[in-house]
Amino acid sequence: METSPLHPRFGVEVKGVDLRDVTAARHYPEIRRLFEDHALLLFRGQSLDEAAQNDLALLFGPLEDRLADTAGTPARARPAIPRLSNREDGALLPADSLDVLNLIANQQWHTDSTFLNTPALINLITAHVVPSRGGETELVSTRAAFADLPADLRARVADAVFLHSVLPSRLRVDADLLALEQVARYGCQAWRAVWPNPETGQPALYIAGHVYGVRGMAPAAAEAFVAELLAFCTRPEYVYSHAWRPGDVLIWDERATMHRGRPWPLDEERTLTSCCVSARDLDGLAQVRPTDGPARAEEAFVPPANAEPLS
Ligand SMILES: [Fe+2]
Repeated sequence: METSPLHPRFGVEVKGVDLRDVTAARHYPEIRRLFEDHALLLFRGQSLDEAAQNDLALLFGPLEDRLADTAGTPARARPAIPRLSNREDGALLPADSLDVLNLIANQQWHTDSTFLNTPALINLITAHVVPSRGGETELVSTRAAFADLPADLRARVADAVFLHSVLPSRLRVDADLLALEQVARYGCQAWRAVWPNPETGQPALYIAGHVYGVRGMAPAAAEAFVAELLAFCTRPEYVYSHAWRPGDVLIWDERATMHRGRPWPLDEERTLTSCCVSARDLDGLAQVRPTDGPARAEEAFVPPANAEPLS
């Protein structure tokens, strides 16, 4: 296996491995080490079908099962892999359909699954059909950003607890998205704002566009604080932009990155499959649980009556 950097601060391309050959004993220990150190791994020219994508993800931990997470039932061992696509049943979806608008909502900076009872450790994405232009995925290292934060801001983050919900990002695109079952079913979560990597000890800012409040902080002050942090993390020098080719596989560390999709011509297909693995205490999950308890009923996100859509 050889590596070359994707960005000066994070991410490597890994060459010389067919991901179908990876097992717990063969290649995985080295891949896991690279993952802990670099937070983003790229493998090109891969041929992962759904079963192989699941097999690879399972080496990192249990597959995320969003239905079970929200229903409070045990996660299934191999739930269907979510497709991220503007094509269903052989036809392109209309650009103004709710399913497409829900994809467009992912063009805001976010971290996957922060609004679940059990957040994600990784997302493992493989590209199947890519458009002729656009459709990139951009990522930033919130570990690098945390290291660079001015001391006063870092001190304020150290003990902060962020409140997360999927609703604000959907509301900013189209209020009708709040009625989608795959949006409405999620509750609110509270996570500490810093996720230390249990292997390396390196802290990262655990933040997302899903953050709508800060525990114990007045709404206006919380909004300004979170906006300042998001702006800091997403400055151009922190961004790695990935232009997808079919067969690309990206694995990113949800504990130490944020990402967003970029627009593409919606009369062209873009199909990726995305497989999240749930974080466990051995991944440091216990360290982001607030010491004063999970999200409370009075902390729930309340949609404003006059929501403004994005232009
Ligand atoms: Fe995402």
